[in-house]
Amino acid sequence: MSTPPIVRKAVIPAAGLGTRFLPATKAQAKEMLPVVDKPAIQYIVEEAVAAGIDDILIITGRSKRSIEDHFDRQFELEYHLDAAGKQSELTEVVALTELADIHFVRQGSPLGLGHAVSVARKHVGDNPFAVLLGDEFMATSSTLLPDMIQTYAQYGRSVMALQEVEPEEIRRYGCAKPERISDHLVQILDLVEKPEPAEAPSNLAVMGRYIFTPELFEKLEQVQPGVGGEIQLTDAIAMLLADQAVYGVTFEGGRYDTGTVPAYLQAIVELALERADLRPEFGAFLADVVQREGLV
Ligand code: G1P
Repeated sequence: MSTPPIVRKAVIPAAGLGTRFLPATKAQAKEMLPVVDKPAIQYIVEEAVAAGIDDILIITGRSKRSIEDHFDRQFELEYHLDAAGKQSELTEVVALTELADIHFVRQGSPLGLGHAVSVARKHVGDNPFAVLLGDEFMATSSTLLPDMIQTYAQYGRSVMALQEVEPEEIRRYGCAKPERISDHLVQILDLVEKPEPAEAPSNLAVMGRYIFTPELFEKLEQVQPGVGGEIQLTDAIAMLLADQAVYGVTFEGGRYDTGTVPAYLQAIVELALERADLRPEFGAFLADVVQREGLV
């Protein structure tokens, strides 16, 4: 087999309505909700860039203009920061516009995650590409995405991220039937979207990181609506399995979920405690709250 092309492109589906965060998401994108002082989507873009990706397509929809503005220059702000001598803030707001080539396309109608990814076809063309779901991001110490790209480089086939969950949790995720290759690598034998625990082939859940061969787009064209009446990405990957091997990289920790309010709050607390400038005061506050509320 010839050497597979390098993974340089990523697609971030960010067109969801964010109904779990209403009213905060009535007029703004859920991906722009701050996790400490950075919008969630910036962590995802930084994760992709750290893994060697330099071309990012964000799939947006209505009420998502702020995402485009966030990654664009803002001359008035830059002028004021400069005039006020706020050089480090100025450097930061300019640097984030230079992270990667960032493109945007609108999904049009919200027909499901699989449909959102299919909208990327023209941009991606005949290249391998990563998909990073907009509701989760990995700790900077995590090697998940580089490990997946490495697996793609080795096999030239699609790769997905898998994590063990409690059996009753599996109904919230895509679920893989795996065949073990080595400690953190499996070949996928089958996939089911959001199975009932009794029917789940394992407790290995699909997490929101994927590397795909371009053949996925053909399957996305053919796949019929699945769970919830939506075009499901998992169902298209299950179809791809008939033609090509698909691999799974398993991982344990380092994932932050911003898709539900409780998980979002946990992400903020954990990341705030990692910040040297916030930890002393915020940590003392938390310790006080824990004691006052009798939480331990
Ligand atoms: C999506 C995918 C699912 C995956 C999950 C990971 O579901 O369809 O297979 O396990 O993301 O977060 P959603 O959370 O959009 O319902």
